[in-house]
Amino acid sequence: MTEPSFLTAVRESYDTVAAAYLERVPRPGEMDPLSRAMLAGFAELVRTAGLGPVADLGCGPGLVTAHLAGLGVPAFGVDLSPNMIGLARHAYPDLRFTEGSMTALETGDDELGGILAWYSTHHTPPQWLPAVFAEFHRALAPGGYLLWGNYAGDERLQPTHGYGLPVSYESYLLPLDRVIGLLEHAGLVVTAKLEQEPGGRVNRPHACLLARKPETP
Ligand SMILES: C[S@@+](CC[C@H](N)C(=O)[O-])C[C@H]1O[C@@H](n2cnc3c(N)ncnc32)[C@H](O)[C@@H]1O
Repeated sequence: MTEPSFLTAVRESYDTVAAAYLERVPRPGEMDPLSRAMLAGFAELVRTAGLGPVADLGCGPGLVTAHLAGLGVPAFGVDLSPNMIGLARHAYPDLRFTEGSMTALETGDDELGGILAWYSTHHTPPQWLPAVFAEFHRALAPGGYLLWGNYAGDERLQPTHGYGLPVSYESYLLPLDRVIGLLEHAGLVVTAKLEQEPGGRVNRPHACLLARKPETP
């Protein structure tokens, strides 16, 4: 089956910018303290629940996957871009990184103790998000957690360049209530939300949501 054109654009664009992205992206230790706190809280919840590994979906060069592993969470990364996966494998040879798409995970049903979607769903056109969030719900174990972090807004961006290089992906910034509605429609229960104004290294409003797959259907 032919893949949707947005996936091809995201893969090609991130293959182009992978090295520049790795140079420029803040390391987890340089993130704003509240985002770091959400990651730490997520790690503690997943560790305590002990329901399975965390999949870092759209893991890029694996910095946040490795950060989670450093917090004691069994974590692996998945990304569309072979170049991003190559960088992640090179930097963290002890962790597992695989090429794949969050639109069709290779993970079986109920297998994951957690999913991290960290600044990785904004290239997915909104009409595809119900399918992506249904995949998250399918792959999470009952009681498993999702941590979603991203820019917030109400805008479609069509940049010609990213990280100083040509790109063809688009970005879709959504109001937080819309994201919450889509997660809840997929059967996930949103239990915490953090909304932040632009500041520090993030030049747009941004947000973090913690959600859980109910223990009983
Ligand atoms: C802005 S980067 C964020 C990388 C990483 N999460 C971080 O915080 O450093 C977005 C990443 O999401 C990946 N991505 C976007 N859509 C994806 C999809 N459908 N499936 C897998 N990866 C995807 C891109 O290839 C890119 O590496």
